[in-house]
Amino acid sequence: MNSKDQKVLVSTFEKEVYEGLTAFPKYLSSKYFYDEVGDKLFQQIMALPEYYLTRTEYEIFATHSTEIVRSFDKQKQGFDLIELGAGDGKKTKILLKDLLQQGLDFGYMPIDISQNAVDGLVNTLQNEMPDVFVQGQVGEYFEVLDRLKQLSTRKKVVMVLGSNIGNLLHSRAIQFLKKLCNAMNQDDLIFMGFDQKKHPQKVLDAYNDKTGVTAAFNKNVLTRINKELDGNFNLDKFMHWETYDPESGTAKSYLVSTEKQTVDINQLSLEVHFEAWESIHTEISQKYDDDIVKWLAKESGLKIINAFSDANQDYKNYLLAKA
Ligand code: AVJ
Repeated sequence: MNSKDQKVLVSTFEKEVYEGLTAFPKYLSSKYFYDEVGDKLFQQIMALPEYYLTRTEYEIFATHSTEIVRSFDKQKQGFDLIELGAGDGKKTKILLKDLLQQGLDFGYMPIDISQNAVDGLVNTLQNEMPDVFVQGQVGEYFEVLDRLKQLSTRKKVVMVLGSNIGNLLHSRAIQFLKKLCNAMNQDDLIFMGFDQKKHPQKVLDAYNDKTGVTAAFNKNVLTRINKELDGNFNLDKFMHWETYDPESGTAKSYLVSTEKQTVDINQLSLEVHFEAWESIHTEISQKYDDDIVKWLAKESGLKIINAFSDANQDYKNYLLAKA
């Protein structure tokens, strides 16, 4: 046994970086894009002209918020709005305002993988909307589902915005939705954003901006390995590459090694070899249409009860319930 086999990998980050960079082909999870720096980069992405997702979802809320919010608690029994991947909560605030206005009895529980994002959101909400009862938590999608039943004893509306579900392959999305469905009671709801299939160039541009913010966002996972695991990735020797397959609806991001090189990750006692033009797969951003969402719902024991779209049909928010 050599030293790297004996090394005890403590954190999930260590384990997954080790697994991904010793696999063939290499990969790293996009969930590691998000730390303080990554959160800022993602906020810049959301403001990019090419990144239509945030604006279209914002448009949907600005147009349909009253109706959306009304559908959350028709029986007026009181509920908890649990948001997975809440981020900076900019769009959610529109819904919260309408919920207050309609006098509904609700609590808001934003959950995010980034401690930094949760702290920021809870703080701004306490200032801007002191009447909203907020309880923030740090957590990952699948892990949060394990404690969903304990999180709230009231009716639950589980919200996943921004097409965050798109980071999961269909098989994983179904696992996630099934698990979510199992944790739900009959009158609980899911409110979820799904970015729609559209002109392939428009999708490509959204993940391949001219200013290079998306490239920097992807490379942040390498920066984190350098910082947190004592690695020596030279960011200039990797380039970001994006593809979009209109058949599967999958946008895929890669970091490509522009030359043959070796990278040391000291905390893992790991030497990683890259051939020239070898890739690290970093993210998928899945695009959908009504049929795919219907299929995902059916496979997971759910049904679509309503859908809201922007004028251009670029993006949709679906209201789902137990079948
Ligand atoms: C936050 C996962 C929805 O996939 O569109 C943006 C992340 N990656 N630009 C997406 C992202 C590159 C984003 N999600």
